[in-house]
Amino acid sequence: MAEFKSKIRTIEWIDTYSKMVDQTKFPETFEYIDIKTGQEMFDAIQTMIVRGAPAIGIAGAHGVVLYAQELAKYNLSLEEFKKELIKKADYLVTSRPTAVNLYWAVEKQKEIIKKSNASVEELIDELKINGKKLEFEDIEINKKIGDYGAMVVPKGATILTHCNAGALATVGYGTALGVVRSAFANDSTIQVFADETRPRQQGARITTLELVMDGIPVTLITDGMCSYFMKKGMIDMVVVGADRIAGNGDSANKIGTYTVAISAKYHNIPFYVAAPLSTIDTSIKTGDEIIIEERSHDEVTTINGKRICAEGVNIINPGFDVTPHELITGIITEKGILKPDYKNSISNLFK
Ligand code: MRU
Repeated sequence: MAEFKSKIRTIEWIDTYSKMVDQTKFPETFEYIDIKTGQEMFDAIQTMIVRGAPAIGIAGAHGVVLYAQELAKYNLSLEEFKKELIKKADYLVTSRPTAVNLYWAVEKQKEIIKKSNASVEELIDELKINGKKLEFEDIEINKKIGDYGAMVVPKGATILTHCNAGALATVGYGTALGVVRSAFANDSTIQVFADETRPRQQGARITTLELVMDGIPVTLITDGMCSYFMKKGMIDMVVVGADRIAGNGDSANKIGTYTVAISAKYHNIPFYVAAPLSTIDTSIKTGDEIIIEERSHDEVTTINGKRICAEGVNIINPGFDVTPHELITGIITEKGILKPDYKNSISNLFK
């Protein structure tokens, strides 16, 4: 299988700080920002300078190192240092509630903190090494997801995606767009239809940007257009990412994903979720238990800072929805493609 080389690296630990692409500035500029304190990392996650489930996981792992470096200045005993650092880590995960990857990666750092009997300096080194390891693993995992997913992409397919589950939602390569990249490496006749993804427009601002950068053909459509193109026979499959997958396969992803899944089912179009195992939360049985982030009303009432509706209107702005497992054709992971019954296929995977 040919390998696709992506130019994009979203987040990287450099000696004492985290360097990341500032995703609030797209598409005007592609700029990097250096995050140097734990609070800056909290804010970067919350304001979506870094976003996408796997990317905020790595940001969380880096954030723990940043807090550790700050606490090291207070000459605490190892036990006090560990206690304070765990408090900071627990605070960091409250920056965004839906994507389990943030919690997962911070827990990996907490395991190291709890086990360590070394000096404060050695513990900080261990946390840095683990952060780097998680970074490299993320890219490798995405490539595996991509290669498994490419096996179910028909020749010359048009693939619809929602939001951005690409290189810019991960360390690099992407999950849903990892499938696209791996498929494109072997068949340059495939193309992508990208939903705009209101209100934050990750499809328009991020998915189109990264696919254009990597030379993969992409057509931008607004969210309400997907059924129209499905009916016309112009969509062969849907591949989306996920922020949290419950034990029964119910999958939370960007608001609007559920609508796409219903439409795909109606039109008999395969609907795949592509996600690493770290997105599967076996502690919850169904999607009803997933906490859905409620975001600022300004995201709905304005576009590019300009108000688009009357003052006094009521607003609700859930950031994610949950696609019921019955609508999902397969869940593409780094260990292969899970098929229904997901309760069984997921529990077999974690045995
Ligand atoms: O609010 P965002 O931009 O962080 O939402 C991102 C998504 O919903 C992605 O599809 C999901 O995190 C998977 S990323 C590989």
